[in-house]
Amino acid sequence: MSTPANASRNIASSAVRSLLENSAERAIRYLEGLPERAVAPSPASISALSAFEEQLADAPVAPETVIRQLDELGSPASMAMAGPRFFGFVIGGSLPVAVAANWLAAAWDQNAAFYSVTPAAAAVEQAALGWLLDTLGLPAGCGAGFVTGATMANFTALAAARHAVLSRAGWNVEADGLFGAPPITVVVGAEAHSTLFKSLGILGLGRNRVVRVPVDGQGRMIASALPRISGPTIVCLQAGNVNTGSFDPFGEVCEKAHADGAWVHVDGAFGLWAAASPRLAHLTAGLERADSWGTDAHKWLNVPYDSGIAFVRDPDALRAAMAVTAEYLPAPESGGSGAARPQRNPSDFTPELSRRARGVEVWAALKSLGREGVADLVERTCSYARLFAEGLAAAGYTIRNDVVLNQVLVTFGDVQATLRVIAAIQADGTCWCGSTVWQGKTAMRISVSSWATTKEDVRKSLEAILRLARAHTSR
Ligand SMILES: Cc1ncc(COP(=O)(O)O)c(C=O)c1O
Repeated sequence: MSTPANASRNIASSAVRSLLENSAERAIRYLEGLPERAVAPSPASISALSAFEEQLADAPVAPETVIRQLDELGSPASMAMAGPRFFGFVIGGSLPVAVAANWLAAAWDQNAAFYSVTPAAAAVEQAALGWLLDTLGLPAGCGAGFVTGATMANFTALAAARHAVLSRAGWNVEADGLFGAPPITVVVGAEAHSTLFKSLGILGLGRNRVVRVPVDGQGRMIASALPRISGPTIVCLQAGNVNTGSFDPFGEVCEKAHADGAWVHVDGAFGLWAAASPRLAHLTAGLERADSWGTDAHKWLNVPYDSGIAFVRDPDALRAAMAVTAEYLPAPESGGSGAARPQRNPSDFTPELSRRARGVEVWAALKSLGREGVADLVERTCSYARLFAEGLAAAGYTIRNDVVLNQVLVTFGDVQATLRVIAAIQADGTCWCGSTVWQGKTAMRISVSSWATTKEDVRKSLEAILRLARAHTSR
């Protein structure tokens, strides 16, 4: 029997090869089945998950058995988020090249904290960073942390903001904490994402201790309503509202906020990617004037979870908030010999010390797509969102947002009718859409974010949505 102990004695044994090939085969079969299976898992497959509620055995179990159980029980009970017709939340699929890079990086098993010990992971991340700044139209010298997602990207960038605004006030927040510190005013739009408040809370800035600026019917901050600012202040803007896809007026707010000495942060979890499209970049105008930005790669760039990026114009502010030293760790920005340029230690810019080489998938996705591929991915998914909106509006249903990006909000009548249709769509399995309440109106959200979605998927989904809407409303 192959046990973990003897497997580690022969890491390249035929048993290991067969295990990994078998797992790859199962994963490929899973992906191949996605377009045809129901998007949501069946109640029976969810019930079968109770088989996981077992005692941990004393004796080892063969790795093949472990993977078989995971596949046979887990795969059918998964939501087909990697497939072409999942339109809930803002969930991209995973580009095949990004999955493949993820597998290779898992085999590398690098603790990608320091250049000197994991040079490949650090160099690939550094290359990806340069491409990201270029693609997203951000200043070339930005510092950046590759983190788990937009929540952590916002957290990381806001930690740099907290450092900078307090440092200007003569306070060292990393050393002395927030007790007795000069108060920081945090300004947000009234439709900021819920996780931004979570990031603020973790930073000790308070989920509720914020000044909320009124927004318009699309969720855009009303720039003229920005309060007068004085003292240490962080203004948080948004690129891509999770319901409407709308963008705050970056140029106007940056102008006012900077004139008063504030730091401007942009939560661009998915909307930042509009900057990569020549057709949509106008939506992000002025965004490059901010001081920091948070985004996801696991949304619109379509890399596997978990992957987000914090960008900070002043790399020293980010490093001051994140870097640590210890006697046994390599010094910041040092490294092995032979490097052609300064060697960037990834962990100088992230909350984590030990971390996986998540820049690898970002690099692979960008390298494979190229500039045109990224723009095409963003534009294509937006065009599908418009197709949904046109089809639904033509059938007489109400589109609640200006479809400027990849988000559609639709209502099918009153609250109960809309909820009935959403439940029917989720149970039907052709596609999956979720509900929301937008400025008091219960609506269905359609978010098109996956590389895998085709026009035919939109047609098929629209047909199912309209069929179910007719069956579950009085129309
Ligand atoms: C605008 C915005 N900010 C932050 C987040 C949180 O992102 P994550 O779930 O990757 O942490 C989301 C998620 O949809 C979002 O849309």
